[in-house]
Amino acid sequence: MLWLSLSLFVSLANAKPLVARWDNMKLKHGWETLPAHWVPIGAAPEGATIDLHIKLKSADADALIGTLLEVSDPSHERYGKHLSKEEVAELVAPHSDTHAIVASWLAAHNIAARPAFNGDWLQLDAVPIETANALLDASYQLYEHPSTGETLLRTQSYSLPAALHGHVSVVAPTTFFGTPQAMRATSRVEENTKVVQEDVLRAQALSPDAVPSSCASTITPSCLKALYNTTGFTPAATNRNILAVAGYLQEFANQADLTTFANRFLTGASSATFGTVLINGGQNSQNNPGVEANLDIQYTTGMSFPTPQIYYSTGGSPPFISDDNTPTNTNEPYLNFLDTFIAQSPLPQTLTTSYGDDEQTVPLDFATEVCNLFAQLGTMGTSVMFSSGDFGVGGGDCQTNTSPRKVQFQPIFPATCPFVTSVGGTTSVNPEVAASLSSGGFSNYFAQPSYQTSSVATFLNAIGTQFNGLFNRTGRGFPDVAAQAEHFQVVIGGRVGSVAGTSCSSPTVAGVVSLLNDFRLSEGKSSLGFLNPLLYSTGLSGLNDITSGSNPGCGTAGFTARAGWDPVTGLGTLDFGKLKALLG
Ligand SMILES: *[C@@H]1O[C@H](CO)[C@@H](O)[C@H](O)[C@H]1NC(C)=O
Ligand SMILES: *[C@@H]1O[C@H](CO)[C@@H](O)[C@H](O)[C@H]1NC(C)=O
Repeated sequence: MLWLSLSLFVSLANAKPLVARWDNMKLKHGWETLPAHWVPIGAAPEGATIDLHIKLKSADADALIGTLLEVSDPSHERYGKHLSKEEVAELVAPHSDTHAIVASWLAAHNIAARPAFNGDWLQLDAVPIETANALLDASYQLYEHPSTGETLLRTQSYSLPAALHGHVSVVAPTTFFGTPQAMRATSRVEENTKVVQEDVLRAQALSPDAVPSSCASTITPSCLKALYNTTGFTPAATNRNILAVAGYLQEFANQADLTTFANRFLTGASSATFGTVLINGGQNSQNNPGVEANLDIQYTTGMSFPTPQIYYSTGGSPPFISDDNTPTNTNEPYLNFLDTFIAQSPLPQTLTTSYGDDEQTVPLDFATEVCNLFAQLGTMGTSVMFSSGDFGVGGGDCQTNTSPRKVQFQPIFPATCPFVTSVGGTTSVNPEVAASLSSGGFSNYFAQPSYQTSSVATFLNAIGTQFNGLFNRTGRGFPDVAAQAEHFQVVIGGRVGSVAGTSCSSPTVAGVVSLLNDFRLSEGKSSLGFLNPLLYSTGLSGLNDITSGSNPGCGTAGFTARAGWDPVTGLGTLDFGKLKALLG
């Protein structure tokens, strides 16, 4: 009692005055021109509301990433000593002054807030649009994406009182026009390709020394097991190891299709199943199997059965109805997913996501904080994989969205986040070569992290001045690793189809990583958590370097895969047998 009242007295005496001007607004983020494709279609309807997320700056800005890099560095004494959710909350905690000043600003607008994520975010529920506009000097209105028909409520710019710029790093949804519908899934069905009617490969015990040439035209789990040297490994930590798939776009993973797939392609796995977690109105319609969702769950299962699988179905809001007062599409897919996922107990040790957007369409402040949430997952022991994208060095005309417009290679976010493992694509066998679709390059937002400086420098020296001015030589290079990306046999609605994209590669790598996590847990060790510091150092000898192929785009021939790291296939593909030996 005495201690409590004493400390209260001290903190009051030391507190800075909380009187600040709320009318001195300063721009936080605005687009020079509207993000491509979006068309304003009018004011928000009468009575519309929006749920806002506010990220409070952490008192110690470097604590999270510093800790992440220590617990992920195999040569550090803290390697593998992952943090609990509570410990991460302490690490990212805002200063009490930050809480106080933001609270008094919200109180001045009569807005209530509750903590979200690890306590470093606030959530404001159902804020009337007029209040949000006043709070943020914003102009929320409806925008439509003509090709998808999707509507959402966003603002072209927003501001904060000058006194808050040191305390708040982002407010969302504001200027990020990405939505579950518009985020690009990185899978596509291949036309007119040969489909294997049954697993001709299944009977053979494929060895990595003899990957059959048929795997160059049709990929099944047997091919991948042989290629990545997992054949013969039986998971043993299936009571605690979990592999998670993040799904968006109203994409549903289908149980009947998984069973058909398992019967056809996975000996002894006819009981294969998965859990489903629904987020933000996400659904699980079993009448409507999604190509992306089925691909992901069939190949994470294909690589790691009987490891438990969970499919996270993150919803968007239903299409906007103009005469309806219910909130329109006010959700932000990454935040809705992460808010739920970070709170999972137990937290899955491996996570794969096959979605992304051109980095330049994601506001820097928002991208930075979403990336930091992936860093939180790594700090807690989860390995996070993202497809690098299917657009080579860039899709479309590759114009920048700031004036003067010019052609620039277009990196893909979140693959460019330095705290995820970004997965590019390969094709063919004996040898594997880069798939031309494989997105890769250099971030314009995130600086090169220390774990990759030497590998990336070797590549940059090798190419000299090639493509100078088209990409950012100091940016984070991606992808980190690669896996097969074409001719995947997937069951969709009971029929086998052939699918391509780095959407194939990320679940494949996640499957191998999940087996490594299984092995580590079985040995009484920690899960692997954030992989990159390992992959770029001691893990290197457990990877197969891919040294030919390229990723054309933006009217250029693209980068060329070469010995060592390259922005097409990263460091190469995973050899489970060798990595397991390194990690034992
Ligand atoms: C290049 O990347 C750095 C981060 O390494 C960033 O600060 C800078 O703004 C980028 N330059 C351009 C032109 O995007
Ligand atoms: C597969 O892994 C084993 C270790 O389990 C290793 O000895 C072997 O060289 C690997 N095979 C290939 C082809 O990389």
